[in-house]
Amino acid sequence: MEFAHQSEQEFARFLDYYRIRWTYEPVSFPIAWDSGRIAEMFTPDFYLSEHDQYVELTTMKQSLVTPKNRKVRLLRELYPDVNVRLLYRKDYHQLLGQAGYGALGVQHLSKEDVGEILISPVELETRVRALGKRISRDYRGRSIVLVGVLKGITFFMADLARNIKVPFVIDYLDLKRFASSQPSERVRVARDIDYPIEGHHVLLVEDIVNTGLTLDYMLSGLKQRSPASIEVVTLLDRPMRRLVPVPLRYAGFQIPNEYVVGYGLDYRELYRHLPFIAVLKPRVYELVPPAKASL
Ligand code: IMP
Repeated sequence: MEFAHQSEQEFARFLDYYRIRWTYEPVSFPIAWDSGRIAEMFTPDFYLSEHDQYVELTTMKQSLVTPKNRKVRLLRELYPDVNVRLLYRKDYHQLLGQAGYGALGVQHLSKEDVGEILISPVELETRVRALGKRISRDYRGRSIVLVGVLKGITFFMADLARNIKVPFVIDYLDLKRFASSQPSERVRVARDIDYPIEGHHVLLVEDIVNTGLTLDYMLSGLKQRSPASIEVVTLLDRPMRRLVPVPLRYAGFQIPNEYVVGYGLDYRELYRHLPFIAVLKPRVYELVPPAKASL
C-alpha cells in the first residue's frame, strides 16, 4: 500500500495493531463549486468503518495545517453527518502513549521486544463483559466468592468483577514457585485466602492456564475446605501446553504456544501495564528462561 506520508503509514500500523478496520483515502468530498462545477475536493486520509469516523492527519508543517483546517471546516459545514477528525502530530503521539507504547519508553523497555498484538483492548473489553454476563446468568440468585490468583489477574479481576451482577466477595491467593527437581516442592501458597469458603460458591479467577499444574494444585487445596461448588474462569487458555486436565468453566481466549504479556500479565514483573495482550519476542527470554513460563 502506497501512502503519501510516513505518518500515514505509522498511523495505519497503529490501527492494525488495534485491529481497527480502515480504508485509505476512500472518498473525495466536493467542497467548492465554480459555476456549478466542482472546483475543489477534499479526501480525508482514513475512514474507520466500525466507528463511522474519517481521520485526517496533519504533517509537521504549520504551512500545511492552516489550509487543512479550512478544508475540514468546509467539510463539516457542507456534510454535517460526516464525522471527521483532524489529528495533529502531537495527538497521534499521545494516542501511542495511551496505547501503552509511550510507557514502554518510560520503563526503558524496548518496543522491539513486544511482538504481535494478539488481543486488542476492544476485544478484551468485549469478551470480559460477555464473561461477566454469563457468570451473572449462571449464578443468578446466588452469591460468589471470587478468588483471584495474584498478580496477573489484577486488571482482569477488576474488569470482570464490574460486570458481575450477583453479590460477590473478592479474595486473593498468591503462590510461590520454586525451581526444584521434586514436583511436590515446586509450588506452595505464599498468601492464603482470608475468607472462609466452606459452603460458598467459589469462582477461581486465573490469568492464563498453561500446563494446568498451578490450577490443579490450587483446586485440590480449595476443595478440601468444602465449598458448595468451585469453578474456574481464566482469561487465557493455552491448551497446547496442557499436562494435566483441568475443568475450565469459563475461558476468555485460546491462545497459541507463545509467551504473552500485557493486561496484567508480566515477564519478570514487566509489561503488565500494556492495555493489550501481545506476544513477547522469544529473544527476550531465550537467554534467561522465564521463571513462570513453565513449571
Ligand atoms: P501453568 O501452571 O503451566 O498452567 O501456568 C500458569 C501460570 O504461569 C499462570 O498463572 C501465569 O502466572 C504463568 N504463565 C504461563 N504462561 C504465561 C504467559 O504466556 N505470560 C505470562 N505468564 C504466564
